Amino acid sequence: MDPGRPPVGIFDSGIGGLTAAYAIIQQLPQERLLYFGDTVHLPYGPQPAEAIRTYSADITQFLLQQGCKAIVVACNTATAAALNYLRERWPDVPFIGMEPAVKPGACATRTGKVGVLATAGTFKSQRYASLMHRFAKDIELLEDPCTGLVERIEAGQLDGPEMEAFLRNILEPMLAGGADTFVLGCTHYPFVQPLIQKIAGDSATIINPAPAVALQLRRVLEERHLLNPERNGPHRFYLSGEKKNFEALASGLLGFEVEVISVFH
Ligand code: DGL
Repeated sequence: MDPGRPPVGIFDSGIGGLTAAYAIIQQLPQERLLYFGDTVHLPYGPQPAEAIRTYSADITQFLLQQGCKAIVVACNTATAAALNYLRERWPDVPFIGMEPAVKPGACATRTGKVGVLATAGTFKSQRYASLMHRFAKDIELLEDPCTGLVERIEAGQLDGPEMEAFLRNILEPMLAGGADTFVLGCTHYPFVQPLIQKIAGDSATIINPAPAVALQLRRVLEERHLLNPERNGPHRFYLSGEKKNFEALASGLLGFEVEVISVFH
């Protein structure tokens, strides 16, 4: 590893954070990423915040040991449960988190009704309550924890009639309630964005926050004079569990051959 040009660490419970990694690679091609998918503990959504804090701290420790200069918490559930704790524990490390795009959703809606797709852990969090309080006073949020969606996406089910029926069950009540804007508040969900758009219709606005997160990462790295002038070496992908579909899904999304390093703990 080149100690003068350290990589950016990025993690999620599984493949979801790759949707953020994709945006980062598009916007900051000179940065080298170390991606960690905590598949042994997936899904994070239904688990207590305390457990997610522990996983997030262990992963951060690992990524810092690999020399990462900044950490992207590419998971809304982990951001909600652990971001404040991580910042307190490692005050010198820049952390970039992800949260449901309630504010952009409130700006985009014409009907005043926004569908929010996120995990149970995100909806239960203080962070989400604060977002609602700050940005959703004048609009209505129609929420669904999309139980089982993360597992389906991890299994590689990204389209087809069964997935369409599954998503229709979630989206049709929101559409009937007047939602014209949908916030993807879990990094896994952009994998099924084309199907969500098909069900919601062309005129619906679907918000994937990944490009905004890449922009925020750029700002943070610029401020600290940490931007790489050019990429030095390949991106790396670590998983705490078995590979299963990860390499195929990651290669399909990112457009290059992804090889996983398994780190069992
Ligand atoms: N991708 C994660 C998020 O953004 C959570 C998925 C899970 O439940 O593990 O919330």
